[in-house]
Amino acid sequence: MMTRRSAARAGVPVLEGEGLALRPWDAELVRQLAAWGEYGFPYHAFDLGRLRDPVAAARALAEHTAPGRHRHYIAVEYGAAVGRCSVNLEDEAGLYLWAVHVPPEHQGRGVARRMLAVLIRALEAEFPGEEFVLTSNTFAERAHRTYLSLGFRITETRWHFDREIAERLWRVSEAERAPLAGHIRFHEGRWQVRAHVFRRKPGAPMRLAPAQPGGESGQRPQAPFVQ
Ligand SMILES: CC(C)(COP(=O)(O)OP(=O)(O)OC[C@H]1O[C@@H](n2cnc3c(N)ncnc32)[C@H](O)[C@@H]1OP(=O)(O)O)[C@@H](O)C(=O)NCCC(=O)NCCS
Repeated sequence: MMTRRSAARAGVPVLEGEGLALRPWDAELVRQLAAWGEYGFPYHAFDLGRLRDPVAAARALAEHTAPGRHRHYIAVEYGAAVGRCSVNLEDEAGLYLWAVHVPPEHQGRGVARRMLAVLIRALEAEFPGEEFVLTSNTFAERAHRTYLSLGFRITETRWHFDREIAERLWRVSEAERAPLAGHIRFHEGRWQVRAHVFRRKPGAPMRLAPAQPGGESGQRPQAPFVQ
């Protein structure tokens, strides 16, 4: 069986399912990412408007197609880029998902759920018995619903230093900061953000169908933390 480390050198297979194709980055898809709508603070780290600069686009394409531990995917629906995600195959904690991002104009149609389901199924077949892991800032509640529906569970909650958020927290107004109360703290001279660690056991059931109004079961993220 291929190990995670040797697989990391073997290229990025195209994956299909749930009405999507997950493809490696290419120049045409990067042009589409550059035109995506943006979220702004506190999700600004995901925004891709910087790819409108041709030099930044070329650099991002090179980084996202370089062989190595990460597989970077763009989810394509009828020729249109509708989401992206990355997986680190070599993280000691497990198959580590990151950069899960669906732009505002494609939100709410199950793109993230479908995209991650296709990726998880393929990686489960390739690396049987491996757990998936990811971290998510506690304010990203929409993302948490996505992960819980895919069989992830919160295993830990901790304060961490997130450079992109910390830098912006120095610059935003108090009003912009207010909705993050309980999710951020100023500690030992720098801003920290609270984050959940999510883990998914092999074979955990996935629930892809849209939730019925008023009826949902399973774990819910905890209320904002009070110290
Ligand atoms: C978080 C994020 C990835 C969610 O993307 P999404 O595509 O809207 O998420 P989902 O696939 O879970 O779909 C969302 C809704 O569509 C519904 N839906 C509609 N059609 C659906 C279908 N055919 N299949 C499944 N779900 C469907 C789901 O029920 C879900 O409803 P809910 O939010 O009330 O539970 C996106 O909002 C984003 O990129 N946010 C900013 C960056 C971010 O926070 N990233 C994650 C950081 S850890």
